[in-house]
Amino acid sequence: MLVWAIASQKGGVGKTTTVASLAGWLEKEGLRALVVDTDPHASLTAYLGFDDEQLDRNLFDLYKDPELDREKVAQAIRHTRFKGLDIIGSTMALATIDRQLSGRAGVGRILSKILKFVDDDYDVALIDCPPVLGALMVNALVAASLVLVPTQTEFLALKGLEGMVRTFEIMGKATNGSGVDYIVVPTMFDRRTHASNSSLDFLRIHYRDHVWKGVIPVDTLFRESSARNVPVPLMDKKSRGAEAYRELLCHCVRHELQACPDKVTPAAAALLTDDTEAEKHPDHEKEIAADMSTMLSAEEGA
Ligand SMILES: Nc1ncnc2c1ncn2[C@@H]1O[C@H](COP(=O)(O)OP(=O)(O)OP(=O)(O)O)[C@@H](O)[C@H]1O
Ligand SMILES: [Mg+2]
Repeated sequence: MLVWAIASQKGGVGKTTTVASLAGWLEKEGLRALVVDTDPHASLTAYLGFDDEQLDRNLFDLYKDPELDREKVAQAIRHTRFKGLDIIGSTMALATIDRQLSGRAGVGRILSKILKFVDDDYDVALIDCPPVLGALMVNALVAASLVLVPTQTEFLALKGLEGMVRTFEIMGKATNGSGVDYIVVPTMFDRRTHASNSSLDFLRIHYRDHVWKGVIPVDTLFRESSARNVPVPLMDKKSRGAEAYRELLCHCVRHELQACPDKVTPAAAALLTDDTEAEKHPDHEKEIAADMSTMLSAEEGA
């Protein structure tokens, strides 16, 4: 099973939408997907049609339990009305988890432990994170083989990305490991605006290989999709937004085939059979070089 965390320290950049849309594609393609809502606001839980106040077992119960087992984890998993898509829901009580867990050893590894129990049951698990650096986000980052950082193509969101990358560096040092593997996903891209275009250039120049070569376009269907409790790919798979997320999904699977092939199930690998990313996204290096020289010459003339 692959585990991906969708995280950013900035709010409202498209994290929950990214989880719901990737999960929608996994379901549509017949894969088994588990989403984990770690945000006390429970937006993803609501997106998929659950009322967090009505969930008798949820992620909070699992976090609090020092003696987890397979049965307890299974009890917290709900089937959604979409056949291959399950959820571990969130609740507002999760907001107290930092305080409740403080001082307990190994507190950052609880979610990894939870997901180990269902390792054979799903092709991909997707973790939605709150926009705050705390125990919930650290757990998600530790559990994931890959972190997707949705970054709205506007100036303020770029600052959020800076903070996130610093967090990855600190975590890499703290765990003495090889660091956090991450992909920056430009979201809400509006090609007609200067703000979108210049922030995309900035991302590609500063974060280079970490930036996915596609973009998630701005698309009003996403708002409609959350209001109707149906992920966009399951509403209109031909929409621009849905197609962009299909490309992102294939990109991530391809990335994992290189990084951790043993975690990629045959069903996940089969997603790549007719994918042609190289053609869709020719190398942007020349574009970036041209942009850079324009920027530098402008400065000279100033
Ligand atoms: N590509 C897009 N085009 C247009 N609207 C979008 C797009 N992606 C997300 N949205 C909308 O933007 C809002 C914020 O998105 P979302 O809830 O996914 O962000 P988030 O990062 O999870 O926020 P939070 O930090 O509050 O959890 C939502 O209303 C969503 O429908
Ligand atoms: Mg969210």
